[in-house]
Amino acid sequence: MKNKPSLQNAYDLKSPDDNIELYSAWAVTYDNDFIEDMQYKLHFAVAEEFVLNGGNGLILDVGAGTGALAQALLQKGKFSIEATDISEEMLKVAGSKNIYKRSFLSDLTKEIPANNDCYDGVVSSGTFTHGHVGPAAIHELVRVTKSGGLITISVNEKHWIALDFANEVKKLSQHTSKSILKKISIYGENSTHDHKDDKAIVLSIKV
Ligand SMILES: C[S@@+](CC[C@H](N)C(=O)[O-])C[C@H]1O[C@@H](n2cnc3c(N)ncnc32)[C@H](O)[C@@H]1O
Repeated sequence: MKNKPSLQNAYDLKSPDDNIELYSAWAVTYDNDFIEDMQYKLHFAVAEEFVLNGGNGLILDVGAGTGALAQALLQKGKFSIEATDISEEMLKVAGSKNIYKRSFLSDLTKEIPANNDCYDGVVSSGTFTHGHVGPAAIHELVRVTKSGGLITISVNEKHWIALDFANEVKKLSQHTSKSILKKISIYGENSTHDHKDDKAIVLSIKV
Protein backbone atom coordinates (compact mmCIF):
# COMPACT_ATOMS: atom_id res chain seq x y z
CA MET A 1 0.00 0.00 0.00
CA LYS A 2 1.48 3.34 -1.16
CA ASN A 3 -0.24 5.60 1.31
CA LYS A 4 -1.28 5.30 4.92
CA PRO A 5 -4.90 6.36 5.50
CA SER A 6 -5.01 10.09 6.28
CA LEU A 7 -6.98 13.10 5.07
CA GLN A 8 -3.99 14.51 3.16
CA ASN A 9 -3.35 11.18 1.41
CA ALA A 10 -7.06 10.93 0.56
CA TYR A 11 -6.93 14.41 -1.03
CA ASP A 12 -3.87 13.34 -3.06
CA LEU A 13 -5.53 10.27 -4.64
CA LYS A 14 -5.52 10.17 -8.42
CA SER A 15 -7.95 7.46 -9.52
CA PRO A 16 -10.92 5.31 -8.47
CA ASP A 17 -8.50 2.38 -7.94
CA ASP A 18 -6.44 4.54 -5.55
CA ASN A 19 -9.67 5.27 -3.65
CA ILE A 20 -10.49 1.56 -3.38
CA GLU A 21 -7.02 0.86 -1.99
CA LEU A 22 -6.95 3.69 0.53
CA TYR A 23 -10.50 3.21 1.84
CA SER A 24 -10.13 -0.59 2.17
CA ALA A 25 -7.25 0.09 4.53
CA TRP A 26 -9.14 2.87 6.35
CA ALA A 27 -12.61 1.30 6.76
CA VAL A 28 -12.25 -0.23 10.23
CA THR A 29 -10.62 2.82 11.89
CA TYR A 30 -12.30 5.62 9.84
CA ASP A 31 -15.01 6.41 12.42
CA ASN A 32 -12.45 6.84 15.20
CA ASP A 33 -9.43 8.39 13.57
CA PHE A 34 -11.24 10.59 11.05
CA ILE A 35 -14.81 11.35 12.15
CA GLU A 36 -14.12 11.52 15.88
CA ASP A 37 -10.49 12.61 16.17
CA MET A 38 -10.70 15.26 13.41
CA GLN A 39 -14.16 16.48 14.51
CA TYR A 40 -15.64 15.90 11.06
CA LYS A 41 -19.22 17.21 11.02
CA LEU A 42 -20.12 17.58 7.35
CA HIS A 43 -22.64 14.71 7.44
CA PHE A 44 -24.73 16.60 10.03
CA ALA A 45 -24.91 19.69 7.78
CA VAL A 46 -25.94 17.63 4.73
CA ALA A 47 -28.63 15.81 6.76
CA GLU A 48 -29.92 19.14 8.07
CA GLU A 49 -30.13 20.74 4.60
CA PHE A 50 -31.81 17.67 3.11
CA VAL A 51 -34.51 17.69 5.79
CA LEU A 52 -34.87 21.50 5.69
CA ASN A 53 -35.52 21.36 1.93
CA GLY A 54 -38.19 18.68 2.28
CA GLY A 55 -36.23 15.49 1.48
CA ASN A 56 -38.05 12.24 2.19
CA GLY A 57 -39.00 8.80 0.80
CA LEU A 58 -36.47 6.33 -0.61
CA ILE A 59 -32.98 7.84 -0.45
CA LEU A 60 -29.65 6.86 -2.01
CA ASP A 61 -26.50 7.80 -0.05
CA VAL A 62 -23.64 7.99 -2.58
CA GLY A 63 -20.07 7.53 -1.37
CA ALA A 64 -21.79 6.34 1.79
CA GLY A 65 -18.59 5.14 3.47
CA THR A 66 -19.22 3.80 6.95
CA GLY A 67 -22.72 5.32 7.10
CA ALA A 68 -22.17 8.59 9.00
CA LEU A 69 -24.68 10.53 6.87
CA ALA A 70 -27.39 7.88 7.18
CA GLN A 71 -26.90 7.89 10.95
CA ALA A 72 -27.26 11.69 10.99
CA LEU A 73 -30.45 11.47 8.88
CA LEU A 74 -31.96 8.77 11.08
CA GLN A 75 -31.43 11.03 14.12
CA LYS A 76 -33.76 13.49 12.38
CA GLY A 77 -36.59 11.21 11.33
CA LYS A 78 -37.71 8.02 9.64
CA PHE A 79 -36.01 7.42 6.29
CA SER A 80 -35.54 4.43 4.04
CA ILE A 81 -31.90 4.64 2.86
CA GLU A 82 -29.76 2.67 0.43
CA ALA A 83 -25.96 2.97 0.30
CA THR A 84 -23.53 2.90 -2.56
CA ASP A 85 -19.74 3.24 -2.51
CA ILE A 86 -16.68 2.15 -4.46
CA SER A 87 -15.20 0.44 -1.38
CA GLU A 88 -16.56 -2.92 -0.33
CA GLU A 89 -14.82 -2.63 3.05
CA MET A 90 -16.42 0.75 3.84
CA LEU A 91 -19.85 -0.71 2.96
CA LYS A 92 -19.10 -3.72 5.17
CA VAL A 93 -18.58 -1.43 8.19
CA ALA A 94 -21.77 0.50 7.27
CA GLY A 95 -23.64 -2.83 6.94
CA SER A 96 -22.70 -3.82 10.49
CA LYS A 97 -24.70 -0.81 11.76
CA ASN A 98 -28.04 -1.98 10.31
CA ILE A 99 -28.97 1.46 9.02
CA TYR A 100 -29.30 0.80 5.29
CA LYS A 101 -32.11 -1.07 3.56
CA ARG A 102 -29.63 -2.26 0.92
CA SER A 103 -26.12 -1.47 -0.29
CA PHE A 104 -24.31 -1.92 -3.59
CA LEU A 105 -20.94 -1.13 -5.15
CA SER A 106 -20.59 1.62 -7.73
CA ASP A 107 -18.00 3.92 -9.21
CA LEU A 108 -19.53 7.41 -9.38
CA THR A 109 -17.15 8.38 -12.16
CA LYS A 110 -19.11 5.88 -14.29
CA GLU A 111 -22.79 4.90 -14.44
CA ILE A 112 -24.64 4.15 -11.19
CA PRO A 113 -26.20 0.66 -11.47
CA ALA A 114 -29.76 1.92 -10.86
CA ASN A 115 -32.74 2.72 -13.10
CA ASN A 116 -33.79 6.23 -14.11
CA ASP A 117 -36.13 8.03 -11.67
CA CYS A 118 -35.97 5.42 -8.89
CA TYR A 119 -35.09 7.47 -5.78
CA ASP A 120 -37.01 10.27 -4.04
CA GLY A 121 -33.74 11.69 -2.78
CA VAL A 122 -29.97 11.41 -3.16
CA VAL A 123 -27.52 12.54 -0.48
CA SER A 124 -23.74 12.61 -0.15
CA SER A 125 -21.17 13.94 2.30
CA GLY A 126 -17.40 14.07 1.90
CA THR A 127 -17.24 12.31 -1.49
CA PHE A 128 -17.19 15.29 -3.88
CA THR A 129 -13.71 16.37 -2.86
CA HIS A 130 -10.05 16.44 -3.99
CA GLY A 131 -8.91 13.11 -5.43
CA HIS A 132 -12.40 11.59 -5.28
CA VAL A 133 -15.41 12.53 -7.47
CA GLY A 134 -15.93 15.52 -9.81
CA PRO A 135 -18.95 17.46 -11.10
CA ALA A 136 -19.81 15.13 -14.03
CA ALA A 137 -21.23 12.62 -11.51
CA ILE A 138 -24.07 15.01 -10.63
CA HIS A 139 -25.73 14.07 -13.97
CA GLU A 140 -25.99 10.50 -12.73
CA LEU A 141 -27.54 11.69 -9.46
CA VAL A 142 -30.17 13.62 -11.43
CA ARG A 143 -30.82 10.60 -13.68
CA VAL A 144 -31.66 8.26 -10.77
CA THR A 145 -33.81 10.85 -8.94
CA LYS A 146 -37.57 11.07 -9.55
CA SER A 147 -39.04 14.31 -10.82
CA GLY A 148 -39.91 16.37 -7.72
CA GLY A 149 -37.13 14.63 -5.74
CA LEU A 150 -34.24 16.28 -3.91
CA ILE A 151 -30.45 15.90 -4.18
CA THR A 152 -28.30 17.27 -1.33
CA ILE A 153 -24.52 16.84 -1.53
CA SER A 154 -21.45 18.48 -0.03
CA VAL A 155 -18.62 19.67 -2.26
CA ASN A 156 -15.26 20.72 -0.81
CA GLU A 157 -15.04 24.48 -1.47
CA LYS A 158 -11.61 24.43 -3.18
CA HIS A 159 -12.65 21.42 -5.28
CA TRP A 160 -15.87 23.31 -6.22
CA ILE A 161 -13.77 26.18 -7.56
CA ALA A 162 -10.99 24.09 -9.20
CA LEU A 163 -13.42 21.88 -11.13
CA ASP A 164 -16.01 24.60 -11.80
CA PHE A 165 -19.01 22.87 -10.19
CA ALA A 166 -20.98 26.11 -10.67
CA ASN A 167 -20.84 25.65 -14.43
CA GLU A 168 -22.10 22.05 -14.15
CA VAL A 169 -24.97 23.18 -11.92
CA LYS A 170 -25.81 25.89 -14.47
CA LYS A 171 -25.88 23.32 -17.30
CA LEU A 172 -28.17 21.09 -15.22
CA SER A 173 -30.60 23.93 -14.57
CA GLN A 174 -32.33 23.12 -17.88
CA HIS A 175 -33.42 19.79 -16.38
CA THR A 176 -33.89 20.75 -12.72
CA SER A 177 -36.25 23.20 -11.03
CA LYS A 178 -34.10 24.92 -8.40
CA SER A 179 -30.71 24.79 -6.68
CA ILE A 180 -29.68 26.15 -3.29
CA LEU A 181 -26.10 26.66 -2.05
CA LYS A 182 -24.82 27.05 1.49
CA LYS A 183 -21.20 27.40 2.70
CA ILE A 184 -20.36 25.57 5.93
CA SER A 185 -17.33 24.44 8.00
CA ILE A 186 -16.29 20.81 7.56
CA TYR A 187 -14.78 20.41 11.04
CA GLY A 188 -15.78 21.39 14.58
CA GLU A 189 -14.68 24.74 15.95
CA ASN A 190 -12.29 23.15 18.50
CA SER A 191 -10.39 21.09 15.93
CA THR A 192 -6.66 21.85 15.67
CA HIS A 193 -5.43 19.95 12.57
CA ASP A 194 -4.09 21.43 9.29
CA HIS A 195 -7.50 21.31 7.57
CA LYS A 196 -9.50 22.70 10.50
CA ASP A 197 -10.66 25.78 8.55
CA ASP A 198 -11.69 23.92 5.38
CA LYS A 199 -15.16 24.74 4.08
CA ALA A 200 -17.68 22.93 1.89
CA ILE A 201 -20.57 24.00 -0.29
CA VAL A 202 -23.77 22.13 0.51
CA LEU A 203 -25.67 21.98 -2.77
CA SER A 204 -29.37 21.08 -2.88
CA ILE A 205 -31.01 20.49 -6.26
CA LYS A 206 -34.78 20.10 -6.75
CA VAL A 207 -35.20 17.77 -9.70
C1 LIG B 1 -14.38 10.91 2.96
S1 LIG B 1 -15.32 9.43 2.66
C2 LIG B 1 -16.97 9.98 3.06
C3 LIG B 1 -17.82 8.86 3.60
C4 LIG B 1 -19.14 9.29 4.24
N1 LIG B 1 -20.07 9.80 3.28
C5 LIG B 1 -18.88 10.31 5.33
O1 LIG B 1 -19.37 11.44 5.25
O2 LIG B 1 -18.19 9.94 6.30
C6 LIG B 1 -15.38 9.32 0.89
C7 LIG B 1 -16.07 8.05 0.38
O3 LIG B 1 -16.18 8.14 -1.05
C8 LIG B 1 -15.94 6.86 -1.59
N2 LIG B 1 -15.53 7.03 -3.00
C9 LIG B 1 -14.38 7.55 -3.47
N3 LIG B 1 -14.37 7.55 -4.82
C10 LIG B 1 -15.54 7.00 -5.21
C11 LIG B 1 -16.12 6.71 -6.48
N4 LIG B 1 -15.47 6.97 -7.62
N5 LIG B 1 -17.34 6.13 -6.51
C12 LIG B 1 -18.02 5.86 -5.36
N6 LIG B 1 -17.52 6.11 -4.11
C13 LIG B 1 -16.30 6.67 -4.05
C14 LIG B 1 -14.86 6.28 -0.70
O4 LIG B 1 -14.78 4.89 -0.81
C15 LIG B 1 -15.31 6.76 0.68
O5 LIG B 1 -16.15 5.83 1.31
